[in-house]
Amino acid sequence: MIIIVGATGTIGNALLRRLTQFGVPVRALSREPEKLVARLGKLAEELDQSLIEVAAMDASDPQSMRSAFAGGSQLFLAMSNSPKQIELETSVIRIAKEMGINHIVKISSPAYDLSAPVEVARWHQEIEWVLYESGITHTILRPYAFMQNLLRQASTVKAANMFFGSMGNAACNFIDCRDIADVAAQVLTKKEWAGQIHTLTGSEVFSYPEVADRLTALLDRPIRYMNLSPEKHRTDLIELGQLPPWLANHVVEIQAMSVALPEKPTSAVKKIIGRDPRTLDAFLQEHVEHFR
Ligand SMILES: NC(=O)c1ccc[n+]([C@@H]2O[C@H](COP(=O)([O-])OP(=O)(O)OC[C@H]3O[C@@H](n4cnc5c(N)ncnc54)[C@H](OP(=O)(O)O)[C@@H]3O)[C@@H](O)[C@H]2O)c1
Repeated sequence: MIIIVGATGTIGNALLRRLTQFGVPVRALSREPEKLVARLGKLAEELDQSLIEVAAMDASDPQSMRSAFAGGSQLFLAMSNSPKQIELETSVIRIAKEMGINHIVKISSPAYDLSAPVEVARWHQEIEWVLYESGITHTILRPYAFMQNLLRQASTVKAANMFFGSMGNAACNFIDCRDIADVAAQVLTKKEWAGQIHTLTGSEVFSYPEVADRLTALLDRPIRYMNLSPEKHRTDLIELGQLPPWLANHVVEIQAMSVALPEKPTSAVKKIIGRDPRTLDAFLQEHVEHFR
């Protein structure tokens, strides 16, 4: 039985679909299982529901983890970012070991030098270290920026034909979360990819001005990328975007890293899933209505 922590999340939900298409039974976990059941119910024709067990689990409640992990052999772990992330993921790893899970696939983030100013990346490195020390076989997936993040720019594109950032014209690796899920599905079902670290990207890098050009062509109206100073970007994210300061910091820090360290694609996705990663053009085309 494969346990999915983060089954309502962007990657976890796509993984659940892929594994059930492979005919693999999964236990999908959420703090709000009834919402997950309702969501799965809407996919009744698409998914073989007999392969999916839904259970309640809160990573801040060890007893809920013991029940949810019982009988599991492998565990997928994608936890939303929060200042409690190290504590929560460390508890998941500890209870997984106690319950006899023998392989954990963890969603991490690109590894930077420990002195790099990306706090969330340092959290992930600390959790990777906990996994290493646990002695459980583990596979680390380190994806770059999700294409799905671009959907957060849709509101200002719709309202004002522009979007904002602070990464100038730096080239950025984007990956579709569904490709991350496809990689995770391979890692969980084929031994050859387990026990390794895989850095995941799409097949091309794009700058924000290039994304604006793509949107301009797709929407048939001019879309502009407005570059802000990191300080202004951070203030706007907090004051206009209502982001908590730690998350605003994260967005600005990650964009500063794209400027400081030129990004380039890796071949990991194609090697593991046997096809090219989804392209940004295909993603924007598929989601064009969000930006109209
Ligand atoms: N966005 C990016 O560009 C990017 C790039 C690289 C790496 N990452 C990493 O990707 C990870 C997020 O992946 P994602 O986007 O697929 O996740 P997500 O959509 O944010 O969903 C995360 C899941 O975490 C679960 N969760 C949160 N708190 C929990 C708790 N206390 N107990 C149990 N479950 C809990 C939620 O489940 P319920 O709410 O249903 O309980 C949800 O399903 C982060 O660690 C992030 O650092 C993101």
